[in-house]
Amino acid sequence: MTVKVSALNKTYLQGNKRVHAVRDLFLSVEKGEFCSIVGASGCGKSTLLQLLVGNLAPDNGRIVIDDVEMTSASEEKRAEMRRQKIGFVYQRFNLVGGLTAKENIVLPSLLDGRQPDAAWFSELADKLGIRERLDHLPSQMSGGQMQRTAIARALINRPSILIADEPTGNLDKETAGEIFDLFMTLHREGQTLIMVTHDPSLAARADRMYRMDDGMLFSA
Ligand SMILES: Nc1ncnc2c1ncn2[C@@H]1O[C@H](COP(=O)(O)OP(=O)(O)OP(=O)(O)O)[C@@H](O)[C@H]1O
Ligand SMILES: [Mg+2]
Repeated sequence: MTVKVSALNKTYLQGNKRVHAVRDLFLSVEKGEFCSIVGASGCGKSTLLQLLVGNLAPDNGRIVIDDVEMTSASEEKRAEMRRQKIGFVYQRFNLVGGLTAKENIVLPSLLDGRQPDAAWFSELADKLGIRERLDHLPSQMSGGQMQRTAIARALINRPSILIADEPTGNLDKETAGEIFDLFMTLHREGQTLIMVTHDPSLAARADRMYRMDDGMLFSA
């Protein structure tokens, strides 16, 4: 099992109102599995992913990724997991504005104190169709190009799991289809994947599809 989540809860305080963004949530993802999550805006999808990657702390519950209990790990260990084991594609890309596409992509390797794998970098640039854009800054790229760059960055360290928040959101149908096809190819090559999407027709092509509603997760 690559991901095991049990009895996970997360609330936010909005003024004096408590918002229950993730409610008593259980989820297991096996190695090599492609799992999709759909749900209306505000139902808690991004919160769940931020919890999984250890960017947010839950109120209670347990998250184990690749045999590491994220929920009791030190901040240092969680950061190491994000560099080495978990590739994360943010809903809003989170590219570094002052760095080119190439510099953004190799950053996780450099932060992990190693030289990026040149052959893998080159393969990713081709797979993602961004070879012509490698010297461009994010401000000189389209939404789709930024999205592909963010995906390459998430994959550069060959993570055991790729977690993506709306990787096809804000893209035209054709680009969205291409990115989804790439995910399918990675999946066939054995990549474990969790993808959040608004698009039920794409989500239905995953091995397992979940629907999130008001912080709860249901098999769909
Ligand atoms: N930092 C925060 N502080 C307070 N409330 C928050 C915070 N982040 C999210 N929320 C609230 O938690 C709930 C879940 O938000 P979340 O971003 O996880 O939803 P989502 O399913 O990803 O939505 P979308 O599809 O629009 O991206 C919403 O009601 C949102 O307003
Ligand atoms: Mg979201």
